Amino acid sequence: MKCQLILKKFDLDLDKLKKKLDHFQISTDKIANRLQISGNIDLGELQKVSEIDRVLVEEKEASQFKLEDLRKDMSKLGKNKFHLQIKTYNSVKIPPGSLKKKLYPIIKENENSKNKIILELFKEKEKTFYRIFSYQEKGMQDKSKYSNITVLIENPRLVEEISDFLRLCLIFNLKFKVIHSNKNEFERMLNKAKSMTKGKLSDFKVEVVKDLSKTDGIKIGFSKHAQKDEKEFIEFLKNNNKNLLFIFGNDTFGLTQQARDKLDYSFSLTPDKVKPLKANQALAYILGIYTSLR
Ligand SMILES: C[S@@+](CC[C@H](N)C(=O)[O-])C[C@H]1O[C@@H](n2cnc3c(N)ncnc32)[C@H](O)[C@@H]1O
Repeated sequence: MKCQLILKKFDLDLDKLKKKLDHFQISTDKIANRLQISGNIDLGELQKVSEIDRVLVEEKEASQFKLEDLRKDMSKLGKNKFHLQIKTYNSVKIPPGSLKKKLYPIIKENENSKNKIILELFKEKEKTFYRIFSYQEKGMQDKSKYSNITVLIENPRLVEEISDFLRLCLIFNLKFKVIHSNKNEFERMLNKAKSMTKGKLSDFKVEVVKDLSKTDGIKIGFSKHAQKDEKEFIEFLKNNNKNLLFIFGNDTFGLTQQARDKLDYSFSLTPDKVKPLKANQALAYILGIYTSLR
């Protein structure tokens, strides 16, 4: 078995690390400049070495690039869903995006999967080669406890407002709706917000609705003017596990009266009744409360 190691660079003592690994054959990979080990490797033991951040397991050794061969290799890995990253070195001209599309009938991709596959392409003596590694993402927590949450902004006016919500939706795996009277105009803002936010958002859908009347879930609005405060919100969360729709006004005008009239509940947040949070700050604060209770 052959593995490459991604190291924790902070305060790294390479000599100390090499001593810990002295029962393996150690070399430095010349393409990606990573420490490479081979031998009888116990992955569980290797993961415990404090200097190592990630262990990349070589699934396919370097071979000359032929799409058909690559497809065969990928299909062997494709029984379970994984997230594929493609990296190119030494001025390989194959665009990762279009290569991924050519592999889509074969691979089953899930961007949120903890199983990661790295496909690397590099050039040597004018020929293109590929190799494949896998690794398990550490430290990602289960996001399923947020699966009953949808967030909604009423009439977002700024690309930044949408971008800030998109970021939280990505991190917590939330569904996102907006109330907007002009779907095309909103889609234009959404596309700008997606490129500003970066991250895996190309397939992320935001549903545009005309008002709150046809939305599912318990409608919970947030406003600094609401009678019920955050202590009552905490009690509400303790007793409600159903689909929750968290509704926010835009940063300029807040929630309209029309939206307030359709709410099942409304709550105010923070100890302050004068200065409002921005909507994305309110959402982050709510998610903190929610996480602490689940
Ligand atoms: C910048 S605020 C809107 C300010 C608006 N001028 C107003 O007074 O409602 C944006 C949104 O964040 C949420 N929000 C901000 N501060 C809040 C608070 N203290 N309690 C509950 N929600 C709050 C509300 O949904 C609000 O519509």
